[in-house]
Amino acid sequence: MINLSILQAILSAWKEACAWDGMGRILIPKETFIVGPLVLKGPCKGPIVFQLKGVMKAHTDLSIFKSDVWIEFQYVKGLLVTGGGTLDGQGASAWPHNQCPKNFKCKILPTSLKLSFVTDATVQGISSINSKFFHMNIFGSKNIKLQAVNISAPDESPNTDGIHIGSSSGIKISRSIIGTGDDCISLGPGSSNVSISNIFCGPGHGISVGSLGKYPNEEDVVGLTVRNCTFTGTTNGLRIKTWEASPASTTASSFTFDDIVMNNVYNPIIIDQEYCPYKSCNLETPSRVKIDNVSFKNIRGTSSSQVAVNILCSKGVPCQNVKLIDINLAYIVQGVAATAACANVRGTSSGLQIPPSCI
Ligand SMILES: *[C@@H]1O[C@H](CO)[C@@H](O)[C@H](O)[C@H]1NC(C)=O
Ligand SMILES: *[C@@H]1O[C@H](CO)[C@@H](O)[C@H](O)[C@H]1NC(C)=O
Ligand SMILES: *[C@@H]1O[C@H](CO)[C@@H](O)[C@H](O)[C@H]1NC(C)=O
Ligand SMILES: *[C@@H]1O[C@H](CO)[C@@H](O)[C@H](O)[C@H]1NC(C)=O
Repeated sequence: MINLSILQAILSAWKEACAWDGMGRILIPKETFIVGPLVLKGPCKGPIVFQLKGVMKAHTDLSIFKSDVWIEFQYVKGLLVTGGGTLDGQGASAWPHNQCPKNFKCKILPTSLKLSFVTDATVQGISSINSKFFHMNIFGSKNIKLQAVNISAPDESPNTDGIHIGSSSGIKISRSIIGTGDDCISLGPGSSNVSISNIFCGPGHGISVGSLGKYPNEEDVVGLTVRNCTFTGTTNGLRIKTWEASPASTTASSFTFDDIVMNNVYNPIIIDQEYCPYKSCNLETPSRVKIDNVSFKNIRGTSSSQVAVNILCSKGVPCQNVKLIDINLAYIVQGVAATAACANVRGTSSGLQIPPSCI
């Protein structure tokens, strides 16, 4: 049963707050609520504070989710989501229904929190656990800060990306702890001017740009800095992945990865332009996504695979201006040296290079 009274109460509070000519405020008290899908739509007359003190639990009955989102803010300018509370996606019963890791045309399960066409927002001091699909998704939005958020789901939970960004610019993510089943943070097409700092990531698949080049007419990804982050036990650290045989010829450029610690990470540095999780790809056609101006600087720690640096670019459009500066990555197997592998890369390396640079 959907608890209609809770949904109704939040929706009518939203309606009032949104129509308020100053700062509207919504408070979710320190209790536990089971809440169905919720769309909180602007434009509003003034900025809104959504104070989540309690625990909102998503319904487990998937049939009541008509879209692929649980809680969505749309068309709001000026939003603060805070309060120390928790969004619990109750994903465990949904994960077995997720076909996306196997099937290209899968049904997408609900993301816990989505900001769509939102500007000037801060999400601060809340937790997200066990999302059915992504924990958070920032889409079509501008000037968004996410800070001091805790995100967690089991490492085997499918597609539970921590924070996914797409078609958005001016995004700042900092001081957060993310441990989940897929990417801690992922950047899709149209992400620009993104800055990420002071993040603990693990378990998870690391911080990823991509997958890019899956669909025609994708937008470029330009401008990313990742600074002072720690990865522990993740499958990847810093990753850029583009589809083999991509229909789109786009650019991914101007990325800086600086001051990063890797603890027991399988692929600490990886560019993969032959990404193809399904057997159906056309391996004869190289990726058409151009990767340009990417610096990896002061990256240190341990790799759980021997190839600590793996830069596999497209035969069709080689990577350009890739810089390796002060890399110190050791293979966890004592006495066996880590290695670096490159294909179709143009760039430079300088400073310390362990493993020896392949550029
Ligand atoms: C996030 O986790 C840290 C460390 O466990 C804790 O100190 C902090 O209060 C948590 N934040 C929230 C919003 O729950
Ligand atoms: C990048 O985003 C920040 C907000 O995070 C904004 O202040 C800055 O003006 C943006 N810079 C560009 C070049 O768009
Ligand atoms: C780097 O991150 C750590 C852990 O989050 C933090 O304590 C430290 O202040 C950060 N350093 C800088 C220069 O931001
Ligand atoms: C290369 O990327 C950095 C940010 O990582 C940026 O500041 C710089 O302007 C870019 N250089 C070129 C030539 O685009």
